[in-house]
Amino acid sequence: MGAVAPSTVTEEQVLAALREIIDPDLHRDIVSLGMIKDLRIVGGDVAFTFELTTPACPVRNQFEAAARDAVAAVPGVEHVDVKMSAQVRQAGRGRTGNQLQLPGIRNIIAVASGKGGVGKSTVAANLAAALAQSGAMVGLLDADVYGPSVPQVMGIRDGIRAEEGRMVPNEAHGVKLISLGFIAGDKPVMWRGPMIGHALKQLLEDVNWGELDYLVVDLPPGTGDAQLSLTQLIPITGVIVVSTPQDLALGIASKALQMFRQLHVPILGFVENMSTFRCPDCGHDSHIFGTGGARAAAESLHVPFLGELPLDTAIRESGDCGVPVVVETPDSAAGQALKGIAQKAAAQVSIRTAQTIPLVVR
Ligand SMILES: Nc1ncnc2c1ncn2[C@@H]1O[C@H](COP(=O)(O)OP(=O)(O)OP(=O)(O)O)[C@@H](O)[C@H]1O
Ligand SMILES: [Mg+2]
Repeated sequence: MGAVAPSTVTEEQVLAALREIIDPDLHRDIVSLGMIKDLRIVGGDVAFTFELTTPACPVRNQFEAAARDAVAAVPGVEHVDVKMSAQVRQAGRGRTGNQLQLPGIRNIIAVASGKGGVGKSTVAANLAAALAQSGAMVGLLDADVYGPSVPQVMGIRDGIRAEEGRMVPNEAHGVKLISLGFIAGDKPVMWRGPMIGHALKQLLEDVNWGELDYLVVDLPPGTGDAQLSLTQLIPITGVIVVSTPQDLALGIASKALQMFRQLHVPILGFVENMSTFRCPDCGHDSHIFGTGGARAAAESLHVPFLGELPLDTAIRESGDCGVPVVVETPDSAAGQALKGIAQKAAAQVSIRTAQTIPLVVR
């Protein structure tokens, strides 16, 4: 009788173990979602790449640990090498008409609100910066003609530059930025829907954005002509509606949600801003408008709830000095809340794109 032959680990065994891991957002296993790449097995050594659908994946660490543990439990496996990576996929563009094609731009996230001054630009700038921090290629388009403030929030004052005959975006905090305000200048312009559409078309088609995983668009506030023409022009992956607790109480937020539903623009979720007041002296939170209302409202409106943002002087100060909170104080409560909102938004985009991904059969 010779020595017992070492057991050989097979690809089927490893994939079967990994198939037990279900993506909590996509409700499918990670193998059939095509997330496992470059599987190599040498004796008891197993190596593979775990390719997420967004670098801003909220469960990245849990995924990595689960994959490592699942494979380590396969008989005969001695060493597991998991490499985490991300490839943002493009949402299917089913809608036709006069919509722009924009081939280099994988996903467009619009940030909207039922009325002005609710923190839309703040959320848009921090969302873009947080996605860029996670490693994604991100652009930010300030389409708010009535009061373009994104350049201020991002700390950019220059207009558009030209390079080799094409317009190039400015860059700040890892985000490529263009504002309609760069075209309008300081003059208060009375824009009408078609004019906005025309200017925006120019900014999207004539600007060299390069490749983008996400283009965040700060829409003008409200539910009028401008929003209508923008949503008809841009193939929006989904919209984030920002509201304050008052908008919720007055039904303004639900009116905005309804408008996007009627336009067949998918809703990624909603964000409640200024939900609690954080005292700058003692750090105490006051729930001026009560708590839990936003989450409950999201539920009754059947939209995902992406998170709430406290009323915090640090948010206004960072906006004034041109450095988003997620860059300036990423570990603060506001920074963490905004990062969480960005992760949840990215996960919602992945859910939209997954609906158009065919199953991988291996
Ligand atoms: N959670 C917050 N805490 C403190 N200040 C905030 C908060 N959110 C926004 N702000 C401040 O409120 C003001 C309005 O915010 P912001 O410009 O982001 O709103 P908006 O919805 O884009 O407004 P507009 O409709 O004018 O475009 C800004 O000065 C901003 O810094
Ligand atoms: Mg704004």
